[in-house]
Amino acid sequence: MARTLVIANQKGGVGKSTSVMNLGVALAERGLRVLMIDLDPQGGLTAAFGIDSYDIRRSAFSLIMYSHVSLARVMRPVRARLALVPASIDLASSEIQLAGVADRAHRLSQSLQRSRIPFDFVLIDTPPGLGILTANGLVAADEVLIPVQCQYLAMRGVRALMDTVVRVKNNLNESLKLAGLFGTMYRPGSKHAQEVVDELRAVFGPKMFPTLIHFDDVVAEAPVVGLSVLEYIPSHPIAQDYRKLAEEIAGGRDEA
Ligand SMILES: Nc1ncnc2c1ncn2[C@@H]1O[C@H](COP(=O)(O)OP(=O)(O)O)[C@@H](O)[C@H]1O
Ligand SMILES: [Mg+2]
Repeated sequence: MARTLVIANQKGGVGKSTSVMNLGVALAERGLRVLMIDLDPQGGLTAAFGIDSYDIRRSAFSLIMYSHVSLARVMRPVRARLALVPASIDLASSEIQLAGVADRAHRLSQSLQRSRIPFDFVLIDTPPGLGILTANGLVAADEVLIPVQCQYLAMRGVRALMDTVVRVKNNLNESLKLAGLFGTMYRPGSKHAQEVVDELRAVFGPKMFPTLIHFDDVVAEAPVVGLSVLEYIPSHPIAQDYRKLAEEIAGGRDEA
């Protein structure tokens, strides 16, 4: 049975898409079979794999809109053991197109349940905001994984997101759990960043993953050539950060 994680934070630019890509590669490196789903109309994750989201016929949009479109038809292999359901720009219209549809937050969940393709992990990338696409991610997932930028005011957004998670749990997906939070773009020299991390640890305790993802320009450089940091510079400290985080998330769960 796949563990389905939705990577969510309504704030943009906190490292959601970066983390889905690098965690996806890190989990696949461990021998696990991973599916990534890009629900962001901007298609940052899709672009990072060198796929043009303006030029795709079947995407996450088809999966959400049309119940006859199967996962097998929209996903594509991007690495060994790693597949991607790309985003396309028409995802931006799903909010309007699904208005008035009774099960509009359950569309992705239903599509995934119909599929028999075996995966160990499904990672769902979400757009900024808490609209219908993010809701589809939260309903389709078993667990929510929250990247938090180690910066001023990061906590404020996290509280709003926690409220949303509780609301989704109460109304739409009672089995939704918090996988945990992890800090991104951490600068070790910064007293301020340390204060944010300390506060997150005080509030969330063991739900805050020990590993922090450090800040480094390599994170922006690697996707330019269509690679994760793990592939671009395998020994880079950021690659190690993501490998450690993947290990903490997988909890020793490797390919048997
Ligand atoms: N650890 C990091 N160090 C430096 N830059 C980062 C790091 N993580 C993400 N970034 C950069 O920050 C920007 C936003 O990251 P992204 O993953 O697209 O965020 P989101 O998906 O939450 O909007 C991108 O330009 C990305 O390259
Ligand atoms: Mg993104």
